[in-house]
Amino acid sequence: MRIELSKIIGVESQRDEGDITALAESIKREGLLQPLVINQNNELICGRRRYRALIQLGTIDTEAYQIKTDDDIDKLSKAIAENIQRKNLTWQEEVEAKKELDELMRLKYGSVKEGERTDLTGAESAAVKWSTIKTAELLNEPERTTQTDIQLAKAIEENPELEKCKTKKEAIQRIRKQRINKEIKEKTKEFKELDSIQIWQGDCFGLINKLDNNSVDLLITDPPYNITENKWDRIGTREEYIKWFEEWFKMLIPKYKDKFNGFIFCDPDYFADLELVIRKYYPIKSRIIWQRMNMAKGRIVQDRFISSYDFIFHFGTNELNFPEKWGDERFDVQRFAVPQTNFKDTKLHPTQKPLELIKRFVELGSNINDLVIDVFGGSGTTGVACKELKRQCILIEQEQEYMDIIKGRLAQI
Ligand SMILES: C[S@@+](CC[C@H](N)C(=O)[O-])C[C@H]1O[C@@H](n2cnc3c(N)ncnc32)[C@H](O)[C@@H]1O
Repeated sequence: MRIELSKIIGVESQRDEGDITALAESIKREGLLQPLVINQNNELICGRRRYRALIQLGTIDTEAYQIKTDDDIDKLSKAIAENIQRKNLTWQEEVEAKKELDELMRLKYGSVKEGERTDLTGAESAAVKWSTIKTAELLNEPERTTQTDIQLAKAIEENPELEKCKTKKEAIQRIRKQRINKEIKEKTKEFKELDSIQIWQGDCFGLINKLDNNSVDLLITDPPYNITENKWDRIGTREEYIKWFEEWFKMLIPKYKDKFNGFIFCDPDYFADLELVIRKYYPIKSRIIWQRMNMAKGRIVQDRFISSYDFIFHFGTNELNFPEKWGDERFDVQRFAVPQTNFKDTKLHPTQKPLELIKRFVELGSNINDLVIDVFGGSGTTGVACKELKRQCILIEQEQEYMDIIKGRLAQI
């Protein structure tokens, strides 16, 4: 049926439904792919954002589906399911349609409650109330897909900014990241200062001087690489970067005990330059390659191989604690995955290093209660490894954002 927009009631919303310009433009281009749904009193049941977009476009009347009986719901849900399968919906329209389908069916059958059975399928399932698994059956897709899409549609209502993501995958990743950041922020409140793990906020050029001379058993540090767009990573030209590296490297020398170990990460592009700097002061003992195991495949570069490893210099005067039983930790190629938002080793920093790799260096390069330092702390991976392995640790980090993350991570152990 067609209905004048001014006759539709119950259109006010409790929440901010965000910018609907993109939706209005899509309606202007392609028409209304999903009609509004109203009940017999002309109350709006589904399509609040579409309604607002139509108002924004100055539309007088529109196509609406009026539900009077349960049969109407069945017909409508069939039509929505067909739309999802056949029409060229944007990801935002698709997730919204799935949510509406799910809501309509719950309206008809009642919603399954916690503890009620949801595992029945086909004819048996007629006895139980509506759940996502049934919506998935209607759409002929795995329940997980339907569930994720419905959650995504709900998340957009809470946070309309998500609609700007280009793909569903990008939106899912953003939600995951927001959730993780929120959890970490909560954990930050639980952080308690510990004597064994200290976090010093500020520029390491000023703070290294505050370390006691002859106190450090192990350095593990992952300085800026001078290759990314992160503002803390932009040191300057190649010459400026090498000079900058030598400055802090030299400042650390009096801080080491007679017997110590050092591990410094670097980008392969700077490896040759930085090796010459380190060799002015110490022989290099090992040139370690960390192979990043979870590289996305499919990138096309025609004139070179794709970078899939980082470089780590190992120098120092002490032996390493290799276990008696021979194992892969003895090789100078170490294979570990880069932290990801969906891993236990969750990504919280743009250039975070794998916790297991850092733990390996802590275990091999120091003993219980030894002092380990990291003068470019980032998300605090070295501190986390030290807390888990009962070493003392001093982390230096200049950015407040990462200080909070470090506190959150340490509070979780
Ligand atoms: C490569 S990241 C370290 C990442 C870390 N390994 C991790 O796993 O999370 C380098 C960090 O050094 C910090 N940084 C850069 N220059 C610094 C300086 N002069 N003093 C202290 N921190 C600095 C940056 O803010 C950044 O978080």
